[in-house]
Amino acid sequence: MRIGIIGGGAIGLLFASHLCDKHRVTLYTRTAQQASIISHDGLLLIKEGESRLLDNIFSKSLDEGITEQDLLITAVKQYQLQQILPAINRLGVPMLFLQNGYGHITHLKQLHSPYIYVGVVEHGALRHDANTVEHTGLGITRVAAYRGELDHLSLVNEEFDRFPFAKSEDYQSILLDKLVVNAVINPLTAILQVENGDLISNAFYYQLFKELFNEISDILEVENKAESFEHVKSVCMATAGNRSSMLKDLEKGSQTEIDAILGHILTVANRNGKKNGLASSLYKMIKGKESRGG
Ligand code: PAF
Repeated sequence: MRIGIIGGGAIGLLFASHLCDKHRVTLYTRTAQQASIISHDGLLLIKEGESRLLDNIFSKSLDEGITEQDLLITAVKQYQLQQILPAINRLGVPMLFLQNGYGHITHLKQLHSPYIYVGVVEHGALRHDANTVEHTGLGITRVAAYRGELDHLSLVNEEFDRFPFAKSEDYQSILLDKLVVNAVINPLTAILQVENGDLISNAFYYQLFKELFNEISDILEVENKAESFEHVKSVCMATAGNRSSMLKDLEKGSQTEIDAILGHILTVANRNGKKNGLASSLYKMIKGKESRGG
C-alpha cells in the first residue's frame, strides 16, 4: 500500500519508521531541507537501545504537492492542521488524523474524502534531529472511524513489530480518553520540568496528578472515573522515561498544544459552571512560558 505521512515531527517519523517495513511510505515535511536529509541519508530509528537505519522512505516537502496514495496519515500538531487543509481537502483518499485534543474534529467536516479516521497515539517518541527518532515508550494507537467503515482502514488488521493498533467503535470516546491523558500529564510535566514517570514516583507530584485528574474528569463528566484514572496512570508509567510533547515544545521555544488541550477543557468548564482552579492556573502558566519563548 502507498502511505503518505504528513508531518516530520516525532509522531510522523515514528509512524514512517514502523510502516515502511511493509508499505511504500512517503513522508511530507514542512521544510525541503528535512525532506532532502531523509531522502539522502535515510531515517534512523532508535528503539530499545538499538539503532536501525531505514533507507526506503521517500520524502518530499509538502509544497511539492501530494502524490497519489492509498492512505494519508496526518501527524501535524492540531494548530498546524488548518494550514495543510488546502492541500488535502479535495482528495478522495482515506485519511487518518493523529492530533491531540478535540478541536480538530470541526475541521474534518469540510473534507471530501469518504473515509476519514481519527487516531490517538499513546507511544512515547522523541525526535533527535531531522532524520532520527527514538521510540521512548511502547504504547498503542487507537483508531476509530469519523466517516466510512473502519474495516476500510486495512492498517488496523496488520501486525507490526511492537507497534500495535487497536480498533474502537467510538471516535469521541477515544479522543476524550486521550484528552484526559494529555490534560493531566502534559501541563504538569511541562511546568515541573520532569519526565512522565516522576508524576507517579514523586509523592508530592502524584498528589497534584490526582487533584488535576479529579478536576478534569469532573469537568468532562468522565463516566468511569476509576478506570480512566488507571488508564492515565498506565500511560504515564508506560512512557515513564519520556519528556512529554508539551515539555519538549517549551524547551524548544515552540508553540504548545495547550489551547487544544486545557483551553478546550476550560471552555467546557466555563460553559457548565465547573470548578477549574488548577486547570486554569496551569493554563496561564503554560501560556506565560510560551509567550516568553519557553
Ligand atoms: O503528548 C505526549 O507527550 C504523549 O501524548 C504522551 C502519551 C502523554 C506521552 O508523553
